[in-house]
Amino acid sequence: MNLRTLTSLHFCACFSGVLAEAIEPIMFIGVGATLGRQIYHYLRESCNSNWIDFNAKGLKADLDSKLFGQHIATRIILKAVNGFMTNNNPKKPLVLSLHGWTGTGKNYITKLIAENIYAEGMKSNFVHVFTATLHFPHQSHYIQYKSQLQQWVKGNVTNCERSMFIFDEMDKMHPGLIDGIKPFLDYYEKLDGVSYRKAIFIFLSNAGGDSIAQTALDFWKAGQQREDIELKDLETLLSLSVFNNNKSGFYRTSLIDKNLVDFFVPLLPLEYKHVVQCIIAEMKAREMKVDEKVADQVAKDLIYFPKSERIFSIKGCKTIESKLDYYV
Ligand SMILES: Nc1ncnc2c1ncn2[C@@H]1O[C@H](COP(=O)(O)OP(=O)(O)O)[C@@H](O)[C@H]1O
Ligand SMILES: *[C@@H]1O[C@H](CO)[C@@H](O)[C@H](O)[C@H]1NC(C)=O
Ligand SMILES: *[C@@H]1O[C@H](CO)[C@@H](O)[C@H](O)[C@H]1NC(C)=O
Repeated sequence: MNLRTLTSLHFCACFSGVLAEAIEPIMFIGVGATLGRQIYHYLRESCNSNWIDFNAKGLKADLDSKLFGQHIATRIILKAVNGFMTNNNPKKPLVLSLHGWTGTGKNYITKLIAENIYAEGMKSNFVHVFTATLHFPHQSHYIQYKSQLQQWVKGNVTNCERSMFIFDEMDKMHPGLIDGIKPFLDYYEKLDGVSYRKAIFIFLSNAGGDSIAQTALDFWKAGQQREDIELKDLETLLSLSVFNNNKSGFYRTSLIDKNLVDFFVPLLPLEYKHVVQCIIAEMKAREMKVDEKVADQVAKDLIYFPKSERIFSIKGCKTIESKLDYYV
């Protein structure tokens, strides 16, 4: 039986940490310090293959069944993460940049990736989320933020080379702060004695969302299938709107011209039918009876773009959780 089944069978993940804390000092004095320490390390998340173990099949299954309407993102993420995680000697960390409107699945994708790498998923001590407006709210303090962030990244990667860093609202980050993480993303064997090559960096932003939506709308108006949209239809537009837009934190950072971002991942705006899928998934997650009428009602209540044709949900699947509370 591996550790993952053991912990999930016998302990709720949220208790395992607490339990381990309690076990270490008290219970095992009698059993012997060595055994005590072994059990402690067995229960307490550590930077080893008991706790960090990439599940390629799991990631594919999750993306295929849980992520709706994102055929391009699904393909890129699988290729990127599989390639990186099965390479024992990567030459640089994996750097992904996810772009799209709110509620289209950017955070959700990072959660699915984390769950298929870390036994503890997003709760792992090796997964770090930074939100621009939360962690770095004052643009004028960026010099201070920058040195703090650099210390955090360095400290965490020193602890565990398989660390994952997620930067939400990347477009709201001061360009100077983005420049501060640039050295970590590069091809250095070691930087100050630390290798960052096995770490994963994921940037999330709305930047480029409007041009992605425009392309999706053009396809729709031309009567073409959403599934016929390809990465190449979006790539140029995306880089223009992200990097030449002076409102974007990416503006004039040399992330792009140094090719430090390995994959740009466009998230398409979600259609009515995807919103319905999200609502039904949420009903199942809450162990409610699946009621398609209610799902329809909730989906109809959202705001769509363009106003006349109502094709794409402006907030994707974001607000459905609270809307669902209101209807049931
Ligand atoms: N493409 C999608 N497929 C399935 N569920 C989705 C999708 N997009 C969003 N959701 C749902 O909506 C919630 C909010 O989406 P999130 O990933 O946080 O959006 P954002 O793109 O703003 O990061 C998610 O937790 C998930 O339940
Ligand atoms: C790791 O990052 C977190 C923020 O996610 C920070 O609070 C912590 O101090 C960092 N650890 C080290 C050792 O730097
Ligand atoms: C950004 O660009 C717009 C239009 O090109 C311009 O009006 C604005 O002054 C610019 N802002 C900054 C901060 O450079």
